[in-house]
Amino acid sequence: MNILAFESSCDETSVAVVSYLDGEFKIKSNIVASQVETHRLYGGVVPEIASRAHAEVISKITYEALEEAGTSLADIDLIAVTANPGLIGALLVGVNFAKGLAAASSIPLVAVDHIKGHVAAAYLSGKENAPEPPFIALTVSGGHTAIYLVEDYTDYKMIGTTRDDAIGESFDKIGRLVGIPYPAGRGFDNLSREGFILATGEEDDFYSKYKKSDAYRNREMTLPSPAISDDSLDFSFSGLKTAAINLLHRYEMTGKELPKELFAARYTYEAVEAVAKKISMAISRYPSHSVVLAGGVAANSHLRRRLSEVCRANGVSLYVPPISLCGDNGAMIAAAGYYEWRAGGVADSTLNASALDSITPEV
Ligand code: KG4
Ligand code: ZN
Repeated sequence: MNILAFESSCDETSVAVVSYLDGEFKIKSNIVASQVETHRLYGGVVPEIASRAHAEVISKITYEALEEAGTSLADIDLIAVTANPGLIGALLVGVNFAKGLAAASSIPLVAVDHIKGHVAAAYLSGKENAPEPPFIALTVSGGHTAIYLVEDYTDYKMIGTTRDDAIGESFDKIGRLVGIPYPAGRGFDNLSREGFILATGEEDDFYSKYKKSDAYRNREMTLPSPAISDDSLDFSFSGLKTAAINLLHRYEMTGKELPKELFAARYTYEAVEAVAKKISMAISRYPSHSVVLAGGVAANSHLRRRLSEVCRANGVSLYVPPISLCGDNGAMIAAAGYYEWRAGGVADSTLNASALDSITPEV
């Protein structure tokens, strides 16, 4: 079957055509129109501008996606669209466009949760490499930092979450304060790498040597762990962020030059170690489950490396989508949409978008 999918929850408009045949997804096209250049001016996403920009491009990139895939609407069997969570005005553009198209061409429509979409990016690497539920999923993005127990393709239980800021949001804010333009995640990843190399003198095996370095012992650079120190699988990134802002102020006030690279490395180390700790705890609770890492921050090189170590040490498999599919894209929505459809979750004309998470913590 051929799936046409739409993603417009934040600052990327994406339309994809994905086929599903003999148990395997194939990406036929995956057009992503990014708005980051526009939002960079403001240092973050401006919701009203995002909605307008989605409305401007969605029709054009739908034609592009169909053309690149060598298909027309007549070949499409299912339409999938991100309906939540995200910026409400932005989501409404995709939802209404998809609803209109589905009604006009009598194609079934499914609503997709953005988080399940990120996780479904892991199904796009071929039959052999696709994870099979049950597994543990960690979604790290601009808006989320959460751990889920994925019991079945559409059955998610949240077993850990951030109590305040998301990891990506914190990288973006702190990165911006050290001069990296929005979105700062990738630049901060590179700056941290330089810091780890500087601290350890190692070009490659720097992360594991970092804790023994003088830079790590430097008290001026001490930052708190964002892992909540009880037996929950929760995080709090606002404490780390505030402590980092205070550290930057201290340097500014004393007129001392900030070693930016070492600062970035320390920040990244605390963030990554917290995630590694909570994932280890999750694995010990569900020892037979593999792990899926998903979301924009899954592109972080230090996190990818550290989690593959944790999983290897615990004898479980780690599935991470290729970097090109970690950020928001339509192909991941198509894969998640297929499973929604298979579970009977067809939407009708009453479908509405929602800014809210549909998967909430277990009580
Ligand atoms: O999933 P995504 O594309 O959008 C949301 O759903 O939020 O994630 C975007 C986030 C941004 O915060 C961006 O800075 C972060 O992913 N990001 C990274 C890296 N690449 C993108 N964060 C850390 N390291 C990276 N290499
Ligand atoms: Zn996302």
